[in-house]
Amino acid sequence: MDQFVIDNMENVAWLQKGLVVLLSIAFFWKLIRYMWSFLKTQKDPVRVLVTGQIGYAIVPMIARGVMLGLDQSVILHLLDVEPAAEALNGVKMELIDAAFPLLKGVVATTDVVEACKDVNIAVMVGGFPRKEGMERKDVMSKNVSIYKAQAAALEQHAAKDCKVLVVANPANTNALILKEFAPSIPEKNITCLTRLDHNRALGQISERLNVQVSDVKNVIIWGNHSSTQYPDVNHATVTTSSGGKRVRELVADDHWLNTDFIATVQQRGAAIIKARKLSSALSAASAACDHIRDWVLGTPKGTWVSMGVYSDGSYGIQPGLIYSFPVTCEKGQWSIVQGLKIDEFSRKKMDATANELMEEKSLAYSCLK
Ligand code: LMR
Repeated sequence: MDQFVIDNMENVAWLQKGLVVLLSIAFFWKLIRYMWSFLKTQKDPVRVLVTGQIGYAIVPMIARGVMLGLDQSVILHLLDVEPAAEALNGVKMELIDAAFPLLKGVVATTDVVEACKDVNIAVMVGGFPRKEGMERKDVMSKNVSIYKAQAAALEQHAAKDCKVLVVANPANTNALILKEFAPSIPEKNITCLTRLDHNRALGQISERLNVQVSDVKNVIIWGNHSSTQYPDVNHATVTTSSGGKRVRELVADDHWLNTDFIATVQQRGAAIIKARKLSSALSAASAACDHIRDWVLGTPKGTWVSMGVYSDGSYGIQPGLIYSFPVTCEKGQWSIVQGLKIDEFSRKKMDATANELMEEKSLAYSCLK
């Protein structure tokens, strides 16, 4: 009996020793990993593809850390069409001359495969612009073939988790075509730019109320990046010294909010073209940086932004359209803000822009045939 007790006590002592050794290993492993995270300050560079002409406005922003943060180095991939090859080389020379500390390399090419190789982020600005005398269908058919080719190259050569932002018009439908021809890129990774319209709406409210634009938040752009988009302020607020106040209460002019405000935001792109004789570039570039930054690094708590994303049927919008919704982002993933109250006025406007997107979709598919 005594021997049995002694044996048992020895076994328990061995078990205890084993446990202490295991716990020590686990503790030191955690400690090493923790210390390594401090030592490894240098993150691997992120490869960012930019296609097309407003690339000139966006590349210095990316190289300065505006898109991905001041601690994130980048390698820029620039793609343009053959006739622009020399100018593209000029941009490469300027990027080298600017000596951006975060810029670890530039690939400037007219070869779509070389451009897409291993890219982590793709900002698709290039597209065929509408020229005088061209029908909508003609532009659509040119862009459908451009986006089909670029989708195939991204599908085969980009990093598996590549995030795509389409800027070129018709942005929502170009993104839809891209999604169609790059089926292995998750649909959640293909988006289009409506942050430009979102920022324009913030700007208009800030001007009207004479408040800082950074104090205005939670406007929404619903739908298409076109003149049917619906800029909605029903949930927007302004931070004041006495707390958050609703934009509708502060503006106190529903007529202006429901007419001139909406039309100004819808027509802002056209107004800029009229004034500059060129499409918006610096505001589009800045909005593209905002879009990617919030997507990758997250939206601030309590704030949403507008992104053109794949509809899952939220708010009764046909699944499968690329439609602009209010979204929040966390850990590199966007989610549509749910449960917002939609009044009758908003419903009509949201449906009208969805209808335009459905028409664009069938036009694009007819071009494909
Ligand atoms: C913009 O909103 O500024 C542009 O999409 C306009 C355009 O047609 O280029």
